[in-house]
Amino acid sequence: MLDRQRRSASMKCYAFPWTRNVQCGIKVREIRTNFQQVETKVPRNDKMTYYDEISEGYEELHKEEQLKKVELISKYLKVKPDDLLLDVGCGTGLTTKPWKCKTVGADPAIKLLEKAGKGIWVNAEAEHLPFKDNTFDWVISVTAIQNFNDIEKGLKEIKRVGKGKYVLTFLKKSNKNIYILELLHSLYKVKNIVEEDKDLVFVIE
Ligand SMILES: C[S@@+](CC[C@H](N)C(=O)[O-])C[C@H]1O[C@@H](n2cnc3c(N)ncnc32)[C@H](O)[C@@H]1O
Repeated sequence: MLDRQRRSASMKCYAFPWTRNVQCGIKVREIRTNFQQVETKVPRNDKMTYYDEISEGYEELHKEEQLKKVELISKYLKVKPDDLLLDVGCGTGLTTKPWKCKTVGADPAIKLLEKAGKGIWVNAEAEHLPFKDNTFDWVISVTAIQNFNDIEKGLKEIKRVGKGKYVLTFLKKSNKNIYILELLHSLYKVKNIVEEDKDLVFVIE
């Protein structure tokens, strides 16, 4: 077995960008119907990222602080059971799984996705989201924006695949914080900005 095939086979639930096979129990038809994924030329990301490298210890290091952020976000993010939510830069799914609706997580770090367990996980960067326009009722991104390679492109993609409701956070201490703040104001109609211990939380509706 090729190394690449072995890696895919070992994953529990994993949806590769569209024309590729959907792995391990997620039916192509189901994804087509529910998530309107589209054909995409985005290649599967085989690059090892910093987050792949720290994947073993990620939750031990960050779970508590990320779940605190989820708790704060839940005051603003009121999902209905039929809503479809995308979490961009979902990592191990800590910020994807708490929402009581249909969820999809996207992240370029395959080793973090491998730890996410049951769910729909897509190996993709924010800059190339393999979804049709206006697909998701909610798009969230928690502590990931400052990591995007092209922040403007990623934020435009998030806007494109969403229907108008977003909760986006980034690290306050990032040296790109002013740039991100200005971009968010220029691209979105920001309803609320909430200051959390480590992140700024933008609520957009
Ligand atoms: C601090 S972690 C946050 C993960 C998750 N949201 C959480 O709160 O546990 C930052 C995440 O951003 C992801 N990331 C890095 N570059 C990205 C990109 N270009 N597009 C989307 N996500 C990216 C990383 O792989 C990582 O999972």
